[in-house]
Amino acid sequence: MQAVVQRIGWLVPVILVLGALGLGASYGVAARSNPRIATTPTSFVQVSSAIAPMSIAAFGPRTDLAKVQGADACGECHTREMDAWKRSTHFATWKTMHREPRAREIASALEIKGGIKRNDLCVNCHYTARVVDEKPKPVSGVSCESCHGAAADWINVHNDYGANKTKETETPEHRAMRLKACDASGMLRPANVYLVARNCYSCHSVPNEKLVNIGGHKAGSAFELVSWSQGEVRHNYQYSSDQKNRAASLERKRVLYVVGAMTDLEFSLRGIAAATEKGRYASAMVKRFQAAMTRLEEIFKLVDVRRLQEAVPPNGGRGLVKLNNQSPLADAAESLSQATKTFAANNDGSTLGPLDAIIPGPQKYHGTAQP
Ligand code: HEC
Ligand code: HEC
Ligand code: HEC
Ligand code: HEC
Repeated sequence: MQAVVQRIGWLVPVILVLGALGLGASYGVAARSNPRIATTPTSFVQVSSAIAPMSIAAFGPRTDLAKVQGADACGECHTREMDAWKRSTHFATWKTMHREPRAREIASALEIKGGIKRNDLCVNCHYTARVVDEKPKPVSGVSCESCHGAAADWINVHNDYGANKTKETETPEHRAMRLKACDASGMLRPANVYLVARNCYSCHSVPNEKLVNIGGHKAGSAFELVSWSQGEVRHNYQYSSDQKNRAASLERKRVLYVVGAMTDLEFSLRGIAAATEKGRYASAMVKRFQAAMTRLEEIFKLVDVRRLQEAVPPNGGRGLVKLNNQSPLADAAESLSQATKTFAANNDGSTLGPLDAIIPGPQKYHGTAQP
């Protein structure tokens, strides 16, 4: 612990300064010029490409709306998953969030008219939308395809076992081909833990400076992948013979934990790179960086994951973590991304046992998992 404090201790004054100066500065801006924020969702024009590197500007959620089928299309087969989703905050928010006084306050600070469901920026993170009459239209809370990718190109591929028809008789060659085709058409499969994690962070780190500094939106949450995915969000029925919502295995939880911490660090660097002024946004991203570093230091002490350790910025980020340092920050984030992706693809968690002592247990899970 001592070493950790020494290594990132230099950040504390940075955070204090960014926070103190920033709050005043950003309110000043809001009062003077009431700048508008861009309301065209980047996702509408982006083709969802699951593993392409991300640019600095576009690391928010990127569902290709033209390809979204809507949750009902999934529910035809995935009835249990649907039931579980319908008891989650991601579902309930459809009926609650637009009535929140806070939502109106944020919208009015940003001079957004017509409410959260009519604004593309808010819709991008708060709802799943589809293209209707050539315009994006929200159709539900955060649903299946916001997490698994827009499905037009894979919905009829991911469950097609080929000439042999059933899962049991599918040839290994066909299975390999099928999964590859799913990945290539933008499906975010649970097997790709890094893609799953990155997707959660694209919303939950709230990577939008104006939304936070001018709109007064919450500057992200202390998101941790195991505790946030194994409670109310969990819906692991597909491969359980007894139709029970099985918890992720110990081994999988270890991988989720490490990948979550690495992705947290990556998104903090992307977030800092995108900051243009001192303020609540920048200081929250620096705090995110610091918290992720502390979590990773603890991981590195317990298990040997050298490749990941090598990808973490040296000297606790000194010289790197500051405003107007886009290119080195983006490069550092990209190194983290590559290392985490490789780790997630090759590590089954079996050698990460010592982490069990620090991985959050059920009492820390967000919400209650359905049976
Ligand atoms: C016609 C039935 C059907 C429909 C419709 C359907 N699925 Fe599936 N889904 C399946 C089957 C069968 C599997 C198991 C595939 C396997 O054995 O690899 C599956 C597996 C999955 C998996 C796990 C994949 C993996 O690699 O472990 C996810 C995630 C998924 N479906 C999401 C969706 C979403 C999201 C939708 C709606 C856009 C959807 N499915 C629509 C039948 C369906
Ligand atoms: C980059 C993604 C993102 C965008 C864009 C976004 N939100 Fe949010 N918002 C979130 C997340 C994630 C949460 C949940 C935070 C948590 O509790 O973890 C949230 C929470 C909220 C809350 C409840 C928390 C609070 O501050 O009381 C309100 C209200 C809200 N958002 C309004 C809006 C409005 C209005 C817009 C559009 C101007 C918007 N959001 C745009 C991601 C986003
Ligand atoms: C498209 C954006 C988006 C994505 C992707 C997303 N979330 Fe959320 N999530 C939200 C918003 C917005 C809220 C807040 C809704 C509200 O408060 O009404 C939320 C709320 C939650 C909550 C309930 C709030 C709490 O504090 O317990 C959990 C748990 C959660 N998300 C977990 C996850 C996990 C795990 C992932 C990835 C597997 C994920 N989310 C992906 C937008 C998103
Ligand atoms: C908040 C993001 C999120 C939403 C919304 C979501 N999923 Fe998932 N889904 C995940 C994650 C994360 C996993 C892997 C969970 C784990 O490892 O414990 C998963 C796993 C799955 C699986 C494989 C389960 C198994 O038995 O291994 C299927 C099938 C699936 N989801 C279908 C759906 C369908 C259908 C919907 C909509 C009704 C949906 N998902 C909504 C994030 C999400």
